[in-house]
Amino acid sequence: MARSSRRASTWTISCLSFLLLVLFVSPAVTVKHHDFKRCEQSGFCKRNRALADSITEQGNPESSPYQLDAASIKFTDGRLEGSIIKTVQETGPIKLPLTVAFLDRGNVRVTIDEEKRRKGDIELRHGSIARKERYNEAGAWALTGAGLHAQKAASLKKISKDLTEVSWGRDHEFKALIHHTPFAVEFWSGEDKQVVFNSRGFMNVEHWRPKIDRPAADTNNSEQQVVNPTEDESTWWEETFGGNTDSKPKGPESVAMDIAFPGYGHVYGLAEHAGPLSLKQTRGGDGNYDQPYRMYNSDIFEYELDSPMTLYGSIPFMQAHKKDSTVGVFWLNAAETWVDIVKSTHDANPLTLGLTGGIVDTHTHWMSESGLLDVFVMLGQSPKELAKSYGELTGYTQLPAAFSIGYHQCRWNYVSDEDVKDVDRKFDKFNIPYDVIWLDIEYTDDKQYFTWDPLNFPDPISMEKQLDESERKLVAIIDPHIKNKAGYFVVDEMKSKDLAVKNKENNIFEGWCWPGSSHWIDAFNPAARAWWKTLFTYDRFKGTMHNVWLWNDMNEPSVFNGPEITMPRDNLHHGNWEHRDVHNINGMSFHNATYHALLERKKGEVRRPFVLTRSFYAGSQRTSAMWTGDNQANWEHLVASIPMILNQGVSGFPFAGADVGGFFGNPSKELQTRWYQAGIFYPFFRGHAHIDTRRREPYMLGEPYTSIMTKALRLRYMLLPAWYTVFHEASIDGYPIVRSQYYVHPEDEKGFELDDQFYLGSTGLLAKPVTTEGAESVDIYLSDNENYYDYFDYTMYSGGSKTHRVVAPLDKIPLLMQGGHIIPRKDRPRKSSGLMKWDPYTLVVVLNKNGEAEGTLYTDDGETFDYEQGAFIHRRFTLENGQMKSTDVATKGAKTASYLKTMIDVKVEKIIVVGAPAQWSKLDEVSVTAEGAKGSTSAELIYHGAVGGKAAWAVIRGPGTSIGEDWTISFSPGHDHKSEL
Ligand code: GLC
Repeated sequence: MARSSRRASTWTISCLSFLLLVLFVSPAVTVKHHDFKRCEQSGFCKRNRALADSITEQGNPESSPYQLDAASIKFTDGRLEGSIIKTVQETGPIKLPLTVAFLDRGNVRVTIDEEKRRKGDIELRHGSIARKERYNEAGAWALTGAGLHAQKAASLKKISKDLTEVSWGRDHEFKALIHHTPFAVEFWSGEDKQVVFNSRGFMNVEHWRPKIDRPAADTNNSEQQVVNPTEDESTWWEETFGGNTDSKPKGPESVAMDIAFPGYGHVYGLAEHAGPLSLKQTRGGDGNYDQPYRMYNSDIFEYELDSPMTLYGSIPFMQAHKKDSTVGVFWLNAAETWVDIVKSTHDANPLTLGLTGGIVDTHTHWMSESGLLDVFVMLGQSPKELAKSYGELTGYTQLPAAFSIGYHQCRWNYVSDEDVKDVDRKFDKFNIPYDVIWLDIEYTDDKQYFTWDPLNFPDPISMEKQLDESERKLVAIIDPHIKNKAGYFVVDEMKSKDLAVKNKENNIFEGWCWPGSSHWIDAFNPAARAWWKTLFTYDRFKGTMHNVWLWNDMNEPSVFNGPEITMPRDNLHHGNWEHRDVHNINGMSFHNATYHALLERKKGEVRRPFVLTRSFYAGSQRTSAMWTGDNQANWEHLVASIPMILNQGVSGFPFAGADVGGFFGNPSKELQTRWYQAGIFYPFFRGHAHIDTRRREPYMLGEPYTSIMTKALRLRYMLLPAWYTVFHEASIDGYPIVRSQYYVHPEDEKGFELDDQFYLGSTGLLAKPVTTEGAESVDIYLSDNENYYDYFDYTMYSGGSKTHRVVAPLDKIPLLMQGGHIIPRKDRPRKSSGLMKWDPYTLVVVLNKNGEAEGTLYTDDGETFDYEQGAFIHRRFTLENGQMKSTDVATKGAKTASYLKTMIDVKVEKIIVVGAPAQWSKLDEVSVTAEGAKGSTSAELIYHGAVGGKAAWAVIRGPGTSIGEDWTISFSPGHDHKSEL
């Protein structure tokens, strides 16, 4: 089969001799376009685009056949209910129940169903047993329940017989103007119209209808049949693509809506695509795409860059941004979805004849194959507010186990347990830190998950024990396809318990993946998830210990011989939902199941599970990390990884990374080195490589590359306290971990398209990785009027809309510190993050123009859920008026005191103050007053004056204060600050 041969799935070490031959060959790679649909090959996308075109051509959005029946409107406790009537000449009116819920924080949820389908009052074709309703469980998977409270104080006002107004929020700052004929909604915040539904009349709910068989001559002649392209019936009843026919027992059932953002020139989000952060227009024209952004989770082999093609995961959340304002839309639909984007410009002031420049409006058009039309509108003010709001709906990113933000060493494949041990020893020999080594599919016995290849992995426990000695972990892959082989206990159990996905005839579905003939666990089934848990206990998944965690791949799901490399859409899941309805949630259903299984491996041993997933949906952030799949070892893919990861942050799933070094092909030494220097800024940081590539562990490259990469890795490890603090922030506020320019400076239009430099959380660290071959410098844009300092030598750069050239030969990482921050660090290099747990802290204070700075530190045991009972340290550091303070911002709980006791000996060993004032040159010590101590002690201060363009700095050695206690350091001699504590 073409696909499995491309992937060389059955290779083992016996192929190593052949590998030597291909070591130096980088595959010529291009995506197989013919495997994946374009809009015109996807029936509903084509129909909806045609509808949009015909309305646009005729210029009559008012022709939209949807009307809100005024008499049907009921309004109670912040919820409006009513009926939209779709007028269809042949069949008479179609009733579409409407609910509009007015929620916290300026959010609104608009849900449109179809009465006939809801009541099951339809007939399915081909004797299908599929569910008749529109899929209504996406919310059960994606939403957490928080943020869904309708606001009882919302009030309804009838403005005219055709217009209803609902206002809500504090001081009724938000309002929705609901037009009845045609149905359209304007969402206002204060005096501004922010978001509009159906202003262009593209709303479409394809109602159920019986199939009318036309005379054969008609159906064979597409010319004749397509009288009106918007009613093109050719794909209503079945659809063929790439030799596969979808039986479509429910007929046409798409939902679509145009959503306009007046005055908003930029839209972001819609992960996952390989393109710029600021989304492009999709209706052709110079530099634009001619295809809508597609979301239909797929195993896209050798994906192309700068493309709206679908990738492995989907988050149908979009932010629209303009200077000082951000709004969002979350399209809660799990079926195949396409989004068209166009922009138009109109004069800000018509009297100036265009001389003042134009205002840009962004128009979007959302189309899904099936399901409810269920949309959240979010009227925020800033990207941060929206992140918080979206996180409230779909959940925040998990607070990960501390090891998982260290470095992960992976390849397809480490070939034996001895190989793993050897790699582990080599990392130590070269003093390179790492936390996790990974096993890809070849560790299994014949691709049977939960088993080990007996020849090459005879003793996995001794391998795991060796790793455990340095607090290192093992991550093993387990995919959702289960080998169809009699006698394999997993498939036998899954079949006998009836827990697999079914085909349209309701028989167990069979397809091809790595193991050959396979079946797929139906993780939508609660019984399947309960069974999945039983497989991970140590006595069933033999050969695993407490330091083994999981990788879920191929969960789109990837089916090598299926339509578009996935499952047929008419397959059936639990509850008889068709696969088409749930497709984009499939990956999440699986990695959630694994996460929950890992929580129950052993009674009494509850630790934060680590699960990596390739496929994802809104809500995946709660239980997993993701990576951007099979990229390539070239500079373009390194460039592309940055906007992709930034976009994951915008889309609420920030624990993201790309294969460092590139999956396919062999990177040059320079590329690999630059990729590590960039990769240390990926929230999920893993080196990975295809089975056909040569070994490329950092120690393999030789000098100077190995040392340069080691330096980069150590920098990641030194900054782990800052990273962990940022992850904590993401886990409570939903903010991205790495943040793009528009996110941090939402008022600066010059930064709205910048997607190659970024900040690490709110630490003030600003990175601009080198992503060009041979480059010796980068240009960094500084938006705010603040001083920035080179991280390594404190060279000063002034901000305020300025671009600076920063010199960056191969051994230099362009990294600046924005004035005004305090960054926590640990400066002692060790083998793994676990071994750094009790190490002392260094605080880097970067003064702003007023001589002030602040920052935070969050830390806990990095492993358990005890932090939920207060077992953590959360400090706020400030330096102002010559005093530096550490204050407690934690919330106390039952386990606070015992945790703090364990941390009493963890001290601050060093404080570095960058931009230290000249008068400190006269100080040789500072006074330190710590909680509970009598009087103050002193600590040595060493001052380094400014040299050339480099800022002055001071070091305070051994202040001796515990990281978990309050303290004050006074920078003016002879002053006792005890009373101020
Ligand atoms: C898929 C994954 C890749 C993995 C391979 C073998 O291609 O994306 O990371 O190495 O499968 O499991």
